[in-house]
Amino acid sequence: MAELRHLLDWHLLPDAVWESRIEAAIRASSAPPPLEAARGKSVALLFFNPSLRTRSSMELAAMRLGAHSSTIVPGQGTWGFAWDEGTTMDGAEAEHIREAVGVLSEYYDAIGVRLFASLTDREADASDLRLKQFARAARVPVVNLESAAWHPCQALADAATIVERFDGAAAGRRFVLAWAHHPKALPAAVPNSALLAAARLGMHVTVARPDGFALSDDVMGKARAYAAARGGSVEETTDPDAAFDGADIVYAKAWAGRSIYDDPAAEESARAGHRDWRVTAERMRRTREAAFMHCLPVRRNVVVDDAVLDGPSAIHLRQAAYRLWAQQAILSWMWDLPDAGGGA
Ligand code: CP
Repeated sequence: MAELRHLLDWHLLPDAVWESRIEAAIRASSAPPPLEAARGKSVALLFFNPSLRTRSSMELAAMRLGAHSSTIVPGQGTWGFAWDEGTTMDGAEAEHIREAVGVLSEYYDAIGVRLFASLTDREADASDLRLKQFARAARVPVVNLESAAWHPCQALADAATIVERFDGAAAGRRFVLAWAHHPKALPAAVPNSALLAAARLGMHVTVARPDGFALSDDVMGKARAYAAARGGSVEETTDPDAAFDGADIVYAKAWAGRSIYDDPAAEESARAGHRDWRVTAERMRRTREAAFMHCLPVRRNVVVDDAVLDGPSAIHLRQAAYRLWAQQAILSWMWDLPDAGGGA
């Protein structure tokens, strides 16, 4: 049997797949949808966490390929799921994930799943334990709709947006991943993925974040390896102003500090002390007319000022539009279909 084309994260797939999907997403942005390409196919979309963009753009991506999608919100009209191996299911959960995913594999040609980080179990989050359990139970391709560690659908849309912005010449440009204050502790899947995407494009990346808010050593190491192989670089700074100097892209994102797993109260207190880490018009003036990006949802005047979000540098809506075309490109690859507008 051919190996299943899971998309758990891009770093698990070769450059050729990553690069071909960026090209396919960009082509899809201007090509008519290939409505017959996936006729008769179907995808189940399981959202264990809320979503506006991923849910709607996946449903539409499937529709534009001629496929059917079913959106399932576990716990709302489904049985509660048990996860652990060898568990005695005498509690509230009526169905094990192995049966649930096994059954969906009988009905559907692919399964998408959103499973955010717990922010309570460092090892499980770092290893994407739940996503791996889910994929192991599947007998059809699984696409990660944002897991504990990664958001590959967002990463592909981000990369395509950046490549389009620079007419294909993203390598060598300056990308700033700008940590931002947020009232809630947020997982790091998006910043992890944005960092690796920029590094894999050969950009010069600066991660600007306060002390105590470093991304994991593993993710930073992966980013440095990508950048080194492509003539780019990855550096870090704790200066929220100087970070913007000479930037071509400012990508704002909030994420929890490292102490979230050991001492959540200390993390909250540290985060509250960094309200000045916000993308302002003044900071954007230090850039080289940089484009402002954010995965959304974004908190206005907490993460980024109205003046930036409503100004000419903001490309967050184009970035969101790319979610649709990126996911068309992902489904086409998973099902080995022709892409919109031709190509590999
Ligand atoms: N960026 C993103 O994944 O948006 P949603 O959480 O609304 O899906």
